[in-house]
Amino acid sequence: RQPLYLDCDTGVDDTLALAYLLASPEIDLVGVGTVSGNVAAAQAARNTLDLLDLAGRQDVPVALGAHDRLTSTYGGGVPHIHGHNGVGDVDLPQSQRQVEGQDAAAFLVDLARAHEGRLRIVAVGPLTNLAKALELEPALPGMVREVTIMGGAALVPGNVSAVAEANVAGDPEAAALVLAAPWDVTLVPLDVTMENTFEEEHRQALLTSGDPFVETVGRILDVYFDFHVPELGRRASALHDPLAAAVAVGGVLPSSAPRVPVVVDAPGGPGRGQTLCDLRGQRLGQVDHPGARVRVVLSTSEPLAPHLVDRLLQ
Ligand code: BDR
Ligand code: CA
Repeated sequence: RQPLYLDCDTGVDDTLALAYLLASPEIDLVGVGTVSGNVAAAQAARNTLDLLDLAGRQDVPVALGAHDRLTSTYGGGVPHIHGHNGVGDVDLPQSQRQVEGQDAAAFLVDLARAHEGRLRIVAVGPLTNLAKALELEPALPGMVREVTIMGGAALVPGNVSAVAEANVAGDPEAAALVLAAPWDVTLVPLDVTMENTFEEEHRQALLTSGDPFVETVGRILDVYFDFHVPELGRRASALHDPLAAAVAVGGVLPSSAPRVPVVVDAPGGPGRGQTLCDLRGQRLGQVDHPGARVRVVLSTSEPLAPHLVDRLLQ
């Protein structure tokens, strides 16, 4: 089993990513770190501990990560999308467990040392913790197997501005550092996460599973489904974070994923937080750019939702 660290801002779709990883026999979830995004990092940590307890996985350590951005303060969450508590306003049984004694960046560096050359990182929130870990240990990229990031928008509009996606826009300076570092990065952008939807039939399958954790995940999705109605035209949701988890684990295979140069527009201005993916000369997904380290997933060979349901119900 491959050791895997999850960095998240739990979060409705972060919850789905966590549930997917817990149900994945290919990997061993060796730690979770939290960051401010959908909710503050401390609330994301409480949510993660509560969810892990409900899943019977008190063995998975949780580290509290960055509250503020590298160069600015956290501006608050998005209660109209993820609920006031981040988990769709569902009251979870409160875990008695505490977070680790070190912050998420230091925790990640220690995990990379403990699993030298083997650790996979899945990052589904703003990239502040990963950037801080790079500052703490500049050799980190050489110690890690690969990094899979839900973030960015290659050929489609952003979701927080005309061009910027929430996780990159949450801390563009951090995203710029992380995408420039010499590790093997797979970017799972809005281009493909918006194409993978979770429908009411899938949510019903979770709600009637008979498993208290999986049923709770189904309830957490309720508010998130409401939010997506104007965009999707029905109660359903995009599958941002669980798609990054599934790509990292190999449960869903990219069908188009060119390796191309990607830079983040970090200065102020209307392009702030944009991921500029240089797709010039690429016949979508079939040609890599020599020397590029970022693999941009533009499509997948199968839809995630049925596979996600199967995995959570197994
Ligand atoms: C990303 O932003 C967050 O709101 C979601 O959890 C996901 O990680 C989508 O842009
Ligand atoms: Ca997230």
